[in-house]
Amino acid sequence: MQKPNPDSRARFLEKLRASLTDNTFIKLTLSRRRNEGILRNVYGRMVELKGGRVVSFTLREATRDITRNEPFDSAAYKVEGWLTTDFQEAHLFTTSGDWRWKQGSTLKATQPTFIDAQPTSHDRPKVRATTGAQFLTKLGVTAADGTARAGMTDKLRQVERFVELLGHLVADSPLAASPTITACDMGAGKGYLTFAAHDFFRRRDVKIAMTGVELRADLVAQTNAIATELGCDGLRFVEGEIGAFALPAKLDLLLALHACDTATDDAIAAGVQAGAALIVVAPCCHKEVRRTFTPPPVLAEVLRHGILAERQAEILTDGLRALILEIHGYEAKVFEFISSEHTAKNLMLTATKRAIPANADALKARLAETMAFFGLAEQRLAKLLGV
Ligand SMILES: C[S@@+](CC[C@H](N)C(=O)[O-])C[C@H]1O[C@@H](n2cnc3c(N)ncnc32)[C@H](O)[C@@H]1O
Repeated sequence: MQKPNPDSRARFLEKLRASLTDNTFIKLTLSRRRNEGILRNVYGRMVELKGGRVVSFTLREATRDITRNEPFDSAAYKVEGWLTTDFQEAHLFTTSGDWRWKQGSTLKATQPTFIDAQPTSHDRPKVRATTGAQFLTKLGVTAADGTARAGMTDKLRQVERFVELLGHLVADSPLAASPTITACDMGAGKGYLTFAAHDFFRRRDVKIAMTGVELRADLVAQTNAIATELGCDGLRFVEGEIGAFALPAKLDLLLALHACDTATDDAIAAGVQAGAALIVVAPCCHKEVRRTFTPPPVLAEVLRHGILAERQAEILTDGLRALILEIHGYEAKVFEFISSEHTAKNLMLTATKRAIPANADALKARLAETMAFFGLAEQRLAKLLGV
């Protein structure tokens, strides 16, 4: 057994400082919380801004990501603070080697995963929005000339990919020729995708009634102000909680993108109950099943590793959601909607109402078998929809 090494954290920080000084730094990840707290992970990567190089930190909380840019000379100090109070693991990638620190063990060095410094946003060609949509500028995604603002390239790609997918999904759904659409976006956040979906339908001369439902009053006020300023008819944001919010009696489209954990199940269930012809969700974290599933004996060796158990919980949750949607008369698909290079939350689950539903009894039997195999007594969506 390895002896705990009290200096390993100091040595990790030395490696980090050296990589920032000699420009070999690529990125780092901080993980495994020490205690309860809202911060789940911190990711840092080098970015070149007009004022010089910074480490762009993404602070991942349960329901949002916050970006903080830190000059090179104070970045290691920030990391030291997080390692003292928040995290027990850190992984540093540099062009000369990778370093992994774990509380209570020695510092591990491995061959570099990246041998060339990754292009910073300065080196990358500027990404330009394909449409001159004003909402992108108002939401801070693009500058007035239509190019992505610093740090917003991935968001712009995500929005554009979402709109592209929405086009395919609507075209293959019962909504294809519909002149009016009633839609809800559950957990709308800053409204990037709510505005994008609204804009998508308006450009096609579809009369759209889109409601963004969001827990945070400040975001609701902000997005409503922008919608009013831009004259977005048929778009409104309301303060409400997924699961408690009363959807319109007749709903065509339900969106829930990156709603946390079982909020995705609540949104799907509400969409099914409101008869939505198209449901599009991008699940976020999968805590419920991670806590409650029991690895089947045949997988025990594989799933004793925490990260693999976490991924198994994700796969299982989204697989069950797809199956439950099929039981309710939908055709479900699960796929990556954007490269994991741009966001870790890149899985999309879509469900389109079928003209002829599949054999629900056979699917229910498969659901019961799968849940029994993984020792799952219940799952939120199954419970909400009574299967
Ligand atoms: C990660 S953000 C995603 C925002 C947006 N859908 C997107 O993909 O850009 C999740 C948002 O859902 C909101 N949220 C989380 N749980 C919620 C709930 N139960 N009801 C309503 N909103 C919720 C959070 O406040 C946050 O703004």
